[in-house]
Amino acid sequence: MTSEVVRTARLVLRPPHPDDADAVWRACQDPDVQRWITALPVPYTRADAADFVGVIAPAARARGTGMLAVVEADGELVGSAGIDRFADEQLGPAIGYWTAPQARGRGYAAEAARALADWALELGAPRVHLVADVRNTASQAVARRAGFTQEGVLRSALPYRDGTRGDAAMFARLPGD
Ligand SMILES: CC(C)(COP(=O)(O)OP(=O)(O)OC[C@H]1O[C@@H](n2cnc3c(N)ncnc32)[C@H](O)[C@@H]1OP(=O)(O)O)[C@@H](O)C(=O)NCCC(=O)NCCS
Repeated sequence: MTSEVVRTARLVLRPPHPDDADAVWRACQDPDVQRWITALPVPYTRADAADFVGVIAPAARARGTGMLAVVEADGELVGSAGIDRFADEQLGPAIGYWTAPQARGRGYAAEAARALADWALELGAPRVHLVADVRNTASQAVARRAGFTQEGVLRSALPYRDGTRGDAAMFARLPGD
């Protein structure tokens, strides 16, 4: 999976380059990205972006358990989408995404999520899941648009930065969905 590239009608999901760090840094200043992706360091520094493109994403691919991609449309970086935990025999691989604020509302996140799920299911994953905060209506709409079905609510499954926790909507796609 080290150099895997997934293409859709409008998008290319490819491994990040060092040159992507600036666009990643800018997008990750967005309050919604910082609010909903609780694993993101806050404040999000240029060093964090360099780490994402140069260390975190290559390491995820090198482990062979998934891929962390940047999403390009018309040659511009418009977001990021990833899939990991291919080895999880119970829940199947997990998908995550963000879209840069200036590129939202064009269906990019849903197109990327659908393509990653298709790719994983074609590789033989029995199911693909994604977890969204119950208050993150945008992400839940993306999941539905990408062909996922909500299966339930995982209570107190999300750790927030302030030490409190929140509920998560569990979505999944199976082969044939
Ligand atoms: C959630 C997010 C990825 C959506 O990106 P996007 O590229 O604008 O999404 P899309 O254009 O593919 O939209 C897909 C669906 O979501 C809906 N949607 C997108 N943003 C929305 C919003 N802010 N509020 C409500 N619905 C929204 C779209 O209308 C569309 O719905 P439809 O299928 O009914 O037409 C983006 O807002 C984001 O990066 N948020 C912060 C990070 C985040 O929440 N990541 C997910 C963590 S689980």
